[in-house]
Amino acid sequence: MRWHVLGAGAIGGLFATRLARAGIPTTLLLRSTQQLEAFDTGGRTLVLETGQGTESVAVDAEPAAGTSAIDHLLITTKAYATDAALERVLPRLHAGSEILLLQNGCGQQQALAQRLPGLAIWAGTTTSGVRRLSPFHLRLAGEGETRIGPMTAAARGLPGGWDRLAHPLHLSDDIERTLWQKLAINAAINPLTALAGCPNGTLLESGYDTRLRALCAEIEAIAQAAGRALFDTPLIDQVRTVARTTAANRSSMLEDISAGRRTEIDQITGYLCQQARRHGIAAPINERLLHDIHILEGNNMRDRSSRER
Ligand SMILES: NC(=O)c1ccc[n+]([C@@H]2O[C@H](COP(=O)([O-])OP(=O)(O)OC[C@H]3O[C@@H](n4cnc5c(N)ncnc54)[C@H](OP(=O)(O)O)[C@@H]3O)[C@@H](O)[C@H]2O)c1
Repeated sequence: MRWHVLGAGAIGGLFATRLARAGIPTTLLLRSTQQLEAFDTGGRTLVLETGQGTESVAVDAEPAAGTSAIDHLLITTKAYATDAALERVLPRLHAGSEILLLQNGCGQQQALAQRLPGLAIWAGTTTSGVRRLSPFHLRLAGEGETRIGPMTAAARGLPGGWDRLAHPLHLSDDIERTLWQKLAINAAINPLTALAGCPNGTLLESGYDTRLRALCAEIEAIAQAAGRALFDTPLIDQVRTVARTTAANRSSMLEDISAGRRTEIDQITGYLCQQARRHGIAAPINERLLHDIHILEGNNMRDRSSRER
């Protein structure tokens, strides 16, 4: 058994170390020869800093556009990069290939399951937090838990070898609900913190109360229209709990905006807006947030191209 990791960034690197540590041969799929050369120069290892120390884990790497068959594929690109990344590896998959997508956002998992319905496909979400300090050097900010569940009939139990990982893993029997729960929390916290430039805990201040409540109510209405159950308690309570437990953290969307990178807004808020349109309900708050984040992303792109001129 060998796992190939498409998306050798923070989350891909974390799970590559977990797979390799479990004795499972693991190969990073890199997109450029420069990245392969840098990986070779660094001794073909992933370096992971944890609260307990620093681990150096040997893994393999090869070009994503290679030719050998892929039996087990972990996809950990940003959600918006999934299709472009997959195009290069699709010819390497076969009827017995297993695929696991570990990403935020929604839409890409369902699209892949529809595109390759005969393959064993799982999706998952993780609450682990990892930062990339440099290309193959990571810092584990917090070991969370990971929920994985089947997206196609051929996916049974956990993906091959994942029961051996030293990582808190749960098999979800309703992965669509798990994905929607994560989506709902991200849709409440990420755009607001990215627009305000504030850490998550700021959303607990009284000045945000009305806006956060209205946003959560709109997200719940979209989920209901789409026939998706969220939590057994109101979304606002879940969001407040996450904002409290991660009070000092900056959301990934805020980090992306601050670094001038593209965000996953289209796969989070954008997905909710699509669902609202499909089911004939209005989503003015989410539409506005989608628009405002697009403006910030556009400003970033303009700043970057003027710096490069
Ligand atoms: N980081 C976290 O703590 C965390 C926590 C929970 C969930 N997530 C979710 O996990 C997903 C991955 O996030 P991340 O933080 O790991 O992102 P990341 O560090 O940016 O990693 C993404 C990786 O995908 C690679 N990639 C993009 N397009 C590719 C292509 N065409 N072929 C091959 N590789 C390609 C990138 O390569 P380059 O280096 O060449 O750009 C990068 O190495 C996201 O959906 C995120 O929301 C992240």
